[in-house]
Amino acid sequence: MEGLEQAGYSDATILEIGSGVGHLHQTLLEQGAASAVGIDLASRMIEEARRWAGERNLSNRTDYVQGDFMEIKDSLHDADVTVLDKVVCCYPDADGLVHASLSKTGRVYALTYPRDRWYVRLMMGLAALMMIIIRSDFRPYVHAPERIENWIVESGFNKLYQNNNLVWLTQVYVKPSI
Ligand SMILES: C[S@@+](CC[C@H](N)C(=O)[O-])C[C@H]1O[C@@H](n2cnc3c(N)ncnc32)[C@H](O)[C@@H]1O
Repeated sequence: MEGLEQAGYSDATILEIGSGVGHLHQTLLEQGAASAVGIDLASRMIEEARRWAGERNLSNRTDYVQGDFMEIKDSLHDADVTVLDKVVCCYPDADGLVHASLSKTGRVYALTYPRDRWYVRLMMGLAALMMIIIRSDFRPYVHAPERIENWIVESGFNKLYQNNNLVWLTQVYVKPSI
């Protein structure tokens, strides 16, 4: 929210990929964004997001799509602001996901993903082991932050904001106006 406030999102259209139960884009809507589309692989996440949107009186400004963003991206409109909050780490092809989501972004690109630290890799490795034990096909990934940053900057965005805690790196990029 801090980085997005610096970038500005008043009256903006929002695309949140891997939107979970929708708290982030719903908060942006309550604070001045115009409308939001939330995409998630998990039908339960989409159900909850719709329910929360109803409780927050945001149903008429939200649209939810269940599916893999990489498979449905061509059917989606571009947005002023794209958000991927802890999503790049759920997807093996970070290059494809970042480039495809950048191509949908008009002005602001915001993402949170894991830092490349030994203890983060250890945690993700243990989480992957747990997934194998419980026979889930989900795997977490630590993609190199410098590669992600290069892809975004090479696509014409400037980094406006960065913050981190021990595990997560949050960055907000803005496309300069012509
Ligand atoms: C760790 S959760 C984060 C959810 C939410 N952004 C949050 O911070 O609470 C990652 C979410 O991304 C979704 N996801 C991962 N890859 C996706 C993809 N390719 N397309 C759509 N959703 C995806 C997962 O289903 C999951 O709900």
